[in-house]
Amino acid sequence: MEVALTGTAPLADVLTVHGGTPLHGSIRVRGAKNLVSKAMVAALLGDGPSTLYDVPNIRDVEVVRGLLELHGVRVTDGAADGELVLDPGNAESANVDQINVHAGSSRIPILFCGPLLHRLGHAFIPDLGGCHIGPRPIDFHMQALREFGAIVDKTPGGLHLTAPNGLHGTKFKLPYPSVGATEQVLLTAVRAEGVTELRNAAVEPEIIDLICVLQKMGAIIKVHTDRVIEVEGVPRLGGYTHRPIPDRIEAASWAAAALATGGDVSVRGARQADMMTFLNVYRSVGGAFAIDDSSEGGIRFWHPGGELRATALETDVHPGFMTDWQQPLVVALTQARGLSIVHETVYEQRLGYTEALNKMGATIQVYRECLGGTPCRFGRRNFRHSAVIAGPSKLHAADLVIPDLRAGFSHLIAALAAEGTSRVYGVNLINRGYEDFESKLSALGAHVER
Ligand code: EPZ
Repeated sequence: MEVALTGTAPLADVLTVHGGTPLHGSIRVRGAKNLVSKAMVAALLGDGPSTLYDVPNIRDVEVVRGLLELHGVRVTDGAADGELVLDPGNAESANVDQINVHAGSSRIPILFCGPLLHRLGHAFIPDLGGCHIGPRPIDFHMQALREFGAIVDKTPGGLHLTAPNGLHGTKFKLPYPSVGATEQVLLTAVRAEGVTELRNAAVEPEIIDLICVLQKMGAIIKVHTDRVIEVEGVPRLGGYTHRPIPDRIEAASWAAAALATGGDVSVRGARQADMMTFLNVYRSVGGAFAIDDSSEGGIRFWHPGGELRATALETDVHPGFMTDWQQPLVVALTQARGLSIVHETVYEQRLGYTEALNKMGATIQVYRECLGGTPCRFGRRNFRHSAVIAGPSKLHAADLVIPDLRAGFSHLIAALAAEGTSRVYGVNLINRGYEDFESKLSALGAHVER
């Protein structure tokens, strides 16, 4: 995507990147964005205060904090860096106009449904935001909530929910193992009356960590084999104290940046167990890594020299290759010899960013067909969801506009790997999910400036 240079992007939102320097050094990842935000919502379900450690300073956390505060939850910074204390003691209904200020800024508000229904008997959820990577419907969420007994009223500004007869356990099968819908069911079932059985549930590490949070609060949740989760509702829950799993998407993004720039980056805090599938692919394309087993832990990722190898991969739900790892890795694949094939099976429109890479010199073609071993939901629906990447390509600098969070970070990686000076517009979007990314870039020796 090329920016109209006559446009009015605020200068503070533009990053100038002098590329061609391998990234070298060490940075740290904190709690996973996609767990922390959900654990914050879970605090609404408790009678007492909850404490969350290692919370990253990112925009998504700010949005959830704002929404919780609007609902009377007292959120304070604890003594330790990254410690957040959430006290729902005075939770109350929020003013709809105030909630609407948050409309469109994140997808997390949808997860307030169950906790607010339990706490207040009703909920108002503003229109959702998040990354533009496909239609991102919420039909599974709504279906599940109705099964529990909620009444959902769609209005132009958002959703109004009530549960005049309370929320009751139910048997429900998800049409697809959606992360958000599984979390919706968990956050509703833990205090619903009776037993809930969820089939075809998502089992991502962030979900298992959310289950750990809920168990600490007093919930009874069994994770069976074959994606079945059973929840025995309890009338009351307490607070929790929790240290979240590290952000495996951020860790993989830095790993890909090390590979694409020919560098060597240690990601302190990254955890092998959550990244096994990524590590296998990283190694098979010619990247090197070493696990640090010290108390802080971490993974060192580097380009060992020589040529990278092309690969074929499909994104999938856990334990498959995460869709959020796809865009950063593709930048590195532009440097691999041969034809790489990427089949995106989680989101139908997550390859649009390849256009920008092509403008920088990459050779990537996108296809409507399923170019993978498994035909997916998008094959017959006219979505360009497979890519063939021919490499290696010499990337050159360009002016880029960031379309969404993960693609945005990939643009940055491409600019860092390219020869010359690029301007990246809309970088503030990256703050949604990458804490202090500019300081981290500088710490790794990148030449960037606002
Ligand atoms: C979560 O999104 C993450 N976001 C995403 O990360 C991540 O890419 C995704 O899970 C998959 O791992 C957060 O945790 C905040 P889904 P979520 O429901 O829960 C379809 C990032 O950059 N679907 O698992 O919204 C949907 O359209 C973000 O950190 C329905 O059809 O994802 C998609 O094709 C981007 N109906 C598929 O399921 C529904 O009601 C998977 O979505 C719900 C989902």
